[in-house]
Amino acid sequence: MQIKNNILETIGNTPLIRLNKITRGIPADIVAKVDYFNPGNSIKDRMAVKMIEVAEQEGKLKPGGTIIECTSGNTGMGLALAAIVKGYKCIFTTTDKQSKEKMDILKAVGAEVIICPTNVEPDDPQSYYSIARRLAREIPNSFHCNQYDNLANRLAHFESTGPEIWQQTDGKITHLICTAGTGGTVTGTAQYLKKMNPDIQIWAIDVYGSLLTKYFRTGEIDMNEVHPYFSEGFGEDFVPENYDMSVIDHFEQVTDRDGAIMARRLAREEGLFCGYSAGSCLQGLMQLKDRLKKGDLAVCIFHDHGSRYVGKIYNDQWMMERGFLEVRTFRDIISGRGQKQKLVTLQPENTVADAVALMRKYDIENIPVLKDGEPVGSVSEAGLFQKVFSDPAIKDTRIADVMEPAYPLVDFTTPLERLSHLITRENGAVLAKDETGGFHILTKYDIIQSFAK
Ligand SMILES: Cc1ncc(COP(=O)(O)O)c(C=O)c1O
Repeated sequence: MQIKNNILETIGNTPLIRLNKITRGIPADIVAKVDYFNPGNSIKDRMAVKMIEVAEQEGKLKPGGTIIECTSGNTGMGLALAAIVKGYKCIFTTTDKQSKEKMDILKAVGAEVIICPTNVEPDDPQSYYSIARRLAREIPNSFHCNQYDNLANRLAHFESTGPEIWQQTDGKITHLICTAGTGGTVTGTAQYLKKMNPDIQIWAIDVYGSLLTKYFRTGEIDMNEVHPYFSEGFGEDFVPENYDMSVIDHFEQVTDRDGAIMARRLAREEGLFCGYSAGSCLQGLMQLKDRLKKGDLAVCIFHDHGSRYVGKIYNDQWMMERGFLEVRTFRDIISGRGQKQKLVTLQPENTVADAVALMRKYDIENIPVLKDGEPVGSVSEAGLFQKVFSDPAIKDTRIADVMEPAYPLVDFTTPLERLSHLITRENGAVLAKDETGGFHILTKYDIIQSFAK
């Protein structure tokens, strides 16, 4: 029988999956160690369990004890799962920058979550590091895991992530690409891989706003490098003990925007719905792709699952607000028209002859019909042509008797892509009202023109 005794036995042995589309054109093989297949949906399950096991062995965690940790969510999830199976309580401190989904997930598995401010120094009493340390001092029979400085973190990757990658690639891996936060994943995995083959290149991926890259290059802890960033889970404003910089060959920084866009591409082009850092990891590799040659086998580590980021990088609004996604809207197309044109309209009591005259005069095909300032119908050149053809005497007929339905009324911020779906054979235009109450029209012709730009 193949039965796991508990959820913790499902941790690890995650698949290595080839990237096929985004990396097309790179001569090397690019594969991903997709660690969202762990039960807590992230690679951090591995080190969470290891930290607890080591603490138990060292007598630092006793039955019925409380696990305390500063965590952006993923480590917390792994710890919470271990706590459930092993009978501990969990208290986590985290920052107000982390996604709400992550906190709710931790609460769902029984943890208490304390949210602390992001933009304070690590040794500020309000920081999530300081609060975790204080709780550990005050709560009896508690154990502060401290994933940053607890070397069981990197040991977990030395014992599991590294050997798995070595076996899954038959020892043919030439490059490891991995985002770096506590440093546990990159260091532990690299220590094992370098032990097996010292020529394997280890590329750590960092974010702008973190001091790790400069520290790696110069040995200097430069707080001027530090500024807030949107990327989650990696980059640091100090150098945790888990780093062994001697096993890392290169540090590469990625912008918030590039990482987010690449995560979205991973979902759409490879079917890999991963977290923010996976996008940054692959973006880092793409920035370094010219260093890869035929016969190389590059392994990217994708730390976690995309479901935790649906309100962020997978939300168009969130992306647009940060300038990460350029979505052209109704407003953009109108403002690209240059000088303001007054909207040509008809009244229901106008005649077909009036409509034809306006179409000729302004060289237009679609005219909205307004009554008391509101759209009540529309007239199109194609529709009129049909009617004039079957009844030449129609020119004195009132517009009210021949008009077609009003054009759909949309918001000024409606994206171009949505607008294009609203324009059909039956419906040649869309309308939107500006802040002053004036209407603006976009026709099939406008939409085609703007796609061509
Ligand atoms: C989503 C995500 N990516 C990357 C990392 C960085 O891994 P490490 O802390 O082992 O350096 C973490 C760590 O918490 C993470 O949660």
